[in-house]
This record gives sequence, structure tokens and C-alpha cells, in this order.
Amino acid sequence: MRKVMILNGPNLDQLGTREPELYGSLTLSDIEKLCQETAVALGFEADFRQTNDESTLIGWLHEATKSDLPVIMNPAAFTHYSVAIRDAAAMLSAPLIEVHISNPIAREEFRHTSLISGIAKGTISGFGANSYVLALSALAKL
Ligand code: DQA
Repeated sequence: MRKVMILNGPNLDQLGTREPELYGSLTLSDIEKLCQETAVALGFEADFRQTNDESTLIGWLHEATKSDLPVIMNPAAFTHYSVAIRDAAAMLSAPLIEVHISNPIAREEFRHTSLISGIAKGTISGFGANSYVLALSALAKL
């Protein structure tokens, strides 16, 4: 089975109660379940992780690089300012797909910049938890 890492950045562990009008009512473990079901149906083994810590996320990107694994990543707030996350993601050799639950371009101006989009194969935003499903399906077709 092909492996894929699904990485989630800060505050995504609070989904369910975090600004539900923007992020919906599903918890991160609901999203993980959805990803695991979709992954299996598409022939992937998904390694789904979340951290609030930049250094941990960088370590996971290094791990994906060493193992040549594709990554689906919701970098959350790191998207908009972390050069360190971008630099770590730039080392990946397998495809990177950036995902967002909301559509950052339709929100505050500081969210309009993504340091990740320029090094990602593509970005899927604005479809709620379905952004992850769409990313897995896009990855399966690469
Ligand atoms: C987010 C969008 C980011 O702007 C925000 O900082 C998040 C979540 C999303 O999934 O919509 O934490 O990445």
C-alpha cells in the first residue's frame, strides 16, 4: 500500500468548537476518520498527525523527505508566515498538496499570502473537511 502523511498545524486540534461558522462542526478525529476511510478506498495508508509546535512539524517533514513520502498538509497559521515550514517542505521529493478547510483568500488580508503554495503541487481550500478528501483523490491521480 502506498503511504501518505497527512500533517496538520496549530489549533486544528480544536476543530469542532473552534469558530464553527468558519471551520464547521467536525472534530479533527472526525476528519482523521474520513481521511482513513478515503485513503483505504484509494489504496493509501494514511499517517495522520497534528501538532501545535513548529519544530515538530519540521521534524515530520524531514521524516517524509527521508522516506520519500507524499504529504497532504494543512499548515494552518504557519501557512502565512513560517519560512521554516516552507524550507522544510521544499525538501520533499514526493508531491505536497496544501489543504485548508476555509478559503483563506476570502478572509482577512493577512491570510492571502501562503508561503507554501509556491512549493506545493497544488492547493485545495474552502471545501471544509472535504478539502482533505479532494486532496487524497488528487494525489491518487498523480
Ligand atoms: C486554515 C486557514 C488558516 O488561515 C488558519 O490560520 C487555520 C486554518 C484552514 O484550514 O482553513 O488555522 O488553515
